[in-house]
Amino acid sequence: MRHLMSPLDFTTEELEQLMDLADDMRLHPEQYADACHGKKLATCFYEPSTRTRLSFEAAMLNLGGSVLGFSSADSSSAAKGESVSDTIRVISSYADICAMRHPKEGAPLVASSHSRIPVINAGDGGHQHPTQTLTDLYTIRSLNGSIGNLTIGLCGDLKFGRTVHSLINALVRYPNIKFILISPEELRIPEYIREDVLDRNEIPYVEMERLEDAMPQLDILYMTRVQRERFFNEEDYLRMKDFYILNSEKMTLAKDNMMVLHPLPRVNEISVEVDDDPRAAYFKQAQYGVYIRMALIYTLLEVQPC
Ligand code: NCD
Repeated sequence: MRHLMSPLDFTTEELEQLMDLADDMRLHPEQYADACHGKKLATCFYEPSTRTRLSFEAAMLNLGGSVLGFSSADSSSAAKGESVSDTIRVISSYADICAMRHPKEGAPLVASSHSRIPVINAGDGGHQHPTQTLTDLYTIRSLNGSIGNLTIGLCGDLKFGRTVHSLINALVRYPNIKFILISPEELRIPEYIREDVLDRNEIPYVEMERLEDAMPQLDILYMTRVQRERFFNEEDYLRMKDFYILNSEKMTLAKDNMMVLHPLPRVNEISVEVDDDPRAAYFKQAQYGVYIRMALIYTLLEVQPC
């Protein structure tokens, strides 16, 4: 039995297979409409979510399976003090696979060690968000043809943004990737990512504060929201929240084929006027999240092709 805790749990070859499967599911949905008939996905979300939870649920429904779960800690027995290990023990007898989001780093990992069903980390605190990374990689491969030979700008809250941490972890395994890390001083990438991931893999990167300076060099701009819920005080958040606003004027500085990605939800960091720019790919990205999650559920449940 396999869980998904980090994007590194799959080799790059396995990721290619997963993306090939997602392509097939996107092109031939009818062939997979009953693939998970009789199987149940539990979505255990102790933190807010729109896309991740609903795309997991849509994915399972597209595969002919069923879903059950809770969407906030308050509506689960966590509010009564139950541990994740007890919860997953019980859920293991109600469902066949579980996607879990939790505000504490490592909680899905703890759950996986007490689970009799595959557990998928659907975001743990400021740590990792592997299925968003699968979505990001799949979007890049689908729209760009391949993953590699790219200069990628990651912009915004690089300190608390778990999607950024997971994406860097995954991208360093592809050829000729360069990063431009664009953030205010206080929201720079954590030291462990800089040293253990970028430096250790000898990945070229620069850190800068001005988005305008980075724009002309980028093949992909990955915007992120300032993670309000992880700040220690509201004043710091208010000071930082509108540090970056991508608008049409800044888009004029970018390459004609640059791709703008964002895991969403956006707050103010991308003006709505950018939505109509053909380079804006974030809504497509959210849509692709369903296909790659279908492929993931299918793979972890070890469904045999009929
Ligand atoms: C992200 C998350 O939860 O980390 N959202 C998502 O899953 N698409 C990004 C965010 O909340 O800013």
